[in-house]
Amino acid sequence: HKQTPTSIVVFGATGDLAKRKLFPAFFNLFLEGWMPEDFTIFSLGRKEHTDETFGEYILENIHNFSRNHDFSEAQWSQFREKIRYVPFDIKNDQSFYSLKKELDEYDSEIAHRTDRIFYLSIAPNFIENVSNNLKKYELVKDRIKDRIIIEKPFGYDKASAIHLNNLLSNNFEENQIYRIDHYLGKETVQNILAFRFANIMFEPLWNNKYIDSIQITVAEKVGVEERGSYYDGAGALRDMIQNHLMQILCMVAMEPPSVFKSSEIRNKKADVLKSVRRIHVEDIEHYTVRAQYTQGRIDGHDKVGYLEEPGVNPGSKTETFVAMKFYIDNERWNGVPFYMRTGKSMAAKQSSVVISFKEVPDDTFRNNKSMLSPNKLTINIQPEMDIKLSFMAKKPGLNMKLKPVDMVFDFFECSPNTPEAYETLLLDVLEGDPTLFMRSDQVEEAWDVISNIQEAWERFDIAKMQTYPAGSWGPEASDELLKRQGHYWISNS
Ligand code: BG6
Repeated sequence: HKQTPTSIVVFGATGDLAKRKLFPAFFNLFLEGWMPEDFTIFSLGRKEHTDETFGEYILENIHNFSRNHDFSEAQWSQFREKIRYVPFDIKNDQSFYSLKKELDEYDSEIAHRTDRIFYLSIAPNFIENVSNNLKKYELVKDRIKDRIIIEKPFGYDKASAIHLNNLLSNNFEENQIYRIDHYLGKETVQNILAFRFANIMFEPLWNNKYIDSIQITVAEKVGVEERGSYYDGAGALRDMIQNHLMQILCMVAMEPPSVFKSSEIRNKKADVLKSVRRIHVEDIEHYTVRAQYTQGRIDGHDKVGYLEEPGVNPGSKTETFVAMKFYIDNERWNGVPFYMRTGKSMAAKQSSVVISFKEVPDDTFRNNKSMLSPNKLTINIQPEMDIKLSFMAKKPGLNMKLKPVDMVFDFFECSPNTPEAYETLLLDVLEGDPTLFMRSDQVEEAWDVISNIQEAWERFDIAKMQTYPAGSWGPEASDELLKRQGHYWISNS
């Protein structure tokens, strides 16, 4: 891999994401030999810290949150020497000026104009200021070497996403902007491409001739926890559907890229979103279900309802659950329903894609039709990480009886300690590979797909807000949505 000396600048280094994900990921990359020989992580925050106290704080977080606890003191102290804490006030231009000096000094120290990576792990309302100042104070000057990383939310709706993209493109080239959707860094999500395009067996069946329906579930057991005030201004549609579920959809539904190259893959993904049929506002009730969790029990503990959560407006109309159906109007998918559901405080953690195939034609086993169940392919993204193909087999015995059986590929068996999404994604940024990041047009298109739903729910109050007890699989209306076409949700527990 590339060995370019690099300055990594983390805005929001004392924040939650940095503590849980970013520093553990950098450290794991370091332990496994993926970091460049020369690098420094300039860690920017408002809190008072010295390099020492910040180092201790990071070590504690690594103990708490890293997948990997197998390292020596010597390894830690080598890594710690690479971290500098920089007290920083985003609202003060002087801070940018000093940062620029500090980065230039580092470049002279190692006699190299380092690559510069700016990670904006900050609230969305600060992005404009930071983005402008990076340009104004000439921290980002080299169009290849300098990159910025942005976290979601990328806007609040289509108009604000366009605004954000414009503002970024005033200061940076598109190839310098890395928009993170951490689902794309998950091993099992990336594997969808390998599964589909490195095998000859599945692609010929991957269309409306053989596939009956597709469902994508991202269910979480956690509620909104300490994020009530952020979440209440977002909701499941913005927080999960617009990004993570749409991205999974793209991986499942895209046309084969002509070559494994970032621009090609991103084009093919954008094409999927363009082909998603927009639902008319007046039809939203028929295609979508929104709901909030009420009091219930999860893992033997009482859980308060959404409206009682700290930070949530007691009269809130924000959904914590969404189920929806839609169609992709292209030759491959014409007529195949795609279902999506996601929610907080549900019965189990489950992210999965289920491809349900059509029934076999009515010949050979026509007298035993009731024994047949259609083939199903389940891609479990997390916490189970496997691919399961279920097909019919003969039941051992003297007569011809059939039963469904499973063939399973388990990720854990081949690699029990798979890298975290953030490790993959940070390494890609270090190497300048944008394949797994979202391009501006994709983000805007994904907002466009949900914009009528936002409008129907928020402006016209179409589709009644349902409820579901915490610890359940969502409201009845979600099951009804599928039942109408003879389908049902597949839940792993
Ligand atoms: C984030 C959402 O993007 O993804 C959270 O903002 C959600 O609400 C999280 O909990 C889920 O990520 P993961 O990796 O735990 O499935």
